[in-house]
Amino acid sequence: MQTHTALDIRPLEGCGALVQGLDVRAASDTEIDELRQAVFDRGVVFLEDQQLTPEDQIAFARRLAPIVVNRYFPKTERYPEIAKVEKGEAQITNIGGGWHTDHSYDQAPAMGSVLLAIETPPSGGDTLFADMYAAYEALSDGLKATLAGLRAHHASAHVFGEGGGYAMSDRPELSGHKDVPEAIHPVVIVHPGSGKKALYVNPAFTTGIVGWTREESRALLGYLYEHAVKPQFVRRFAWRPGSMAVWDNRCTWHNAMNDYHGHRRLMHRITLDGVPLGC
Ligand code: SIN
Repeated sequence: MQTHTALDIRPLEGCGALVQGLDVRAASDTEIDELRQAVFDRGVVFLEDQQLTPEDQIAFARRLAPIVVNRYFPKTERYPEIAKVEKGEAQITNIGGGWHTDHSYDQAPAMGSVLLAIETPPSGGDTLFADMYAAYEALSDGLKATLAGLRAHHASAHVFGEGGGYAMSDRPELSGHKDVPEAIHPVVIVHPGSGKKALYVNPAFTTGIVGWTREESRALLGYLYEHAVKPQFVRRFAWRPGSMAVWDNRCTWHNAMNDYHGHRRLMHRITLDGVPLGC
């Protein structure tokens, strides 16, 4: 029989929450449900000292949601469910450096990600997270009314396709893909797990507002992008081996800092499947 155990969830300034005292390998069903709801409500939760094998990480992720395999990132040798987010000592370009939310180019964008730090540089390599509930809430009623009913186009080819963003870098293997989906989503979504409104456009994958010119789109999106990363919506997380973040792609952005050249950073990422966001 499951007993009720309230997790120790401490909201953080800017974005997210810290969950203390939980070894996810031993989490009860109630704790998993509370954790999932905290991810929906706070956008991202951080846990420290999780000594997980790949099997443990996969088992934990599966308890949160079905797993979806990322198309573009290298996989760990034995576990296709786990993508390697890695930058070696000699590499210049990192993965995920720039504000984005994962898989917004999919018809049913990924619900979230479970990122586990395996090897971290002596300093640097933090990740920034931004709260798209708070960013939306802080807009004026006038702009909220303008955004209501707007839809945006999202694409992946300019990043991961032939000649995509990574092609000119020292990580060309991340570009050149043929499977480059596109999707249209509302600019403001109602989050299916929290019922709250969130801004759902992002600088990496949103390519324009449906029915607007390129210039008009650029003006509106440029304003929203500047607004969304104001310091009051952003949390910086510093990793050490065993740190883990579980984030919700529908209500946060993230940005991996690339400030540790000459050192290796290795993260294991599992992506959680999502649902269509409704148009
Ligand atoms: C990602 O964008 O999924 C990578 C985030 C990170 O490495 O901190």
